[in-house]
Amino acid sequence: MAVDLRGRHVLSLRDLTPEQILQLVETGYQLKLEHHRGQPHPLLGGKTLAMIFQKPSLRTRVSFEVGMGQLGGRAVYLGPDDIQLGKRETTEDIALVLSRYTDGIMARVFDHETVVELARHAQVPVINGLSQWVHPCQALGDFLTVWEKKRRFAGLKLVFLGDFNNVARSLIFGGLQLGVNVTIACPSEILDSKPPDEYDEVIEWAMENGPRHGAVLTICNRPKDAVQDADVVYTDVWESMGEKGTKTKDFFRPFQLNAELFRLAKPDAVILHCLPAVYDEELTYDVSRLPNSAIFDQAENRLHAQKAVMAMTMR
Ligand code: CP
Ligand code: NVA
Repeated sequence: MAVDLRGRHVLSLRDLTPEQILQLVETGYQLKLEHHRGQPHPLLGGKTLAMIFQKPSLRTRVSFEVGMGQLGGRAVYLGPDDIQLGKRETTEDIALVLSRYTDGIMARVFDHETVVELARHAQVPVINGLSQWVHPCQALGDFLTVWEKKRRFAGLKLVFLGDFNNVARSLIFGGLQLGVNVTIACPSEILDSKPPDEYDEVIEWAMENGPRHGAVLTICNRPKDAVQDADVVYTDVWESMGEKGTKTKDFFRPFQLNAELFRLAKPDAVILHCLPAVYDEELTYDVSRLPNSAIFDQAENRLHAQKAVMAMTMR
């Protein structure tokens, strides 16, 4: 069955089917090849994307803006002080107004409910550029990177070290649907301190959906056991944006991705980090520069994966 995402919102990979996720990854891969061959792909000529940011960004902002340019369209940046979402104007009114000017809305927000609310009222596709709950565009770029390096998904072991956060959740929602076994290695003290809905719901989803795709989610508090024989080792900051000073970093220290821990993974394991990194906290600089590290491919792949998302939803 052909995959048709026209007019669809992309708020979480949980809402997509494995076929849709694969199609986005494959389209992103083709767009990357075309771009590297110097072949233009103006699939969204004359179209406009509104980009709402409640939080800072390097990759998301630049890759969406450049991506719209490569697709023949343009992007309008709306920073935290511009529209003051929910303060100067309601989210509903912003969605309705932007729908009259633009062909798509990308939003980076604090509460996931804000992108849900935008999508409820918008008459154009809404794309989640990171919420506290998930980071779906990141995971699409990540799976494009995994595809480039491993040429398969089924049966791979992806280990995520650190906080059970937005990036971890998106890797679970996308990974299990692609047949990737996902292990989250997170300190018990951190898991125990989280509101249960932040992970119970994910574990329930994984138990229900993983087996259908031949993949399992493992939650573990022993980083060395987790990394053993991994094909992909992924880490992210211990404190996400908006959480500064809320976590005891000492709990995370044994989960740092350093040379000693990485040695336990498969020799050809790929190192991933969504960036920005805090070197010598979750990741050592030397490990980030190993030949196994694909962190800058990953950053580039945001561009191509997101072009796939925009081209398929905003056409
Ligand atoms: N990985 C990522 O989303 O980076 P930015 O916060 O710089 O957009
Ligand atoms: N978990 C991080 C990802 C940054 C791209 C955060 O939310 O800050």
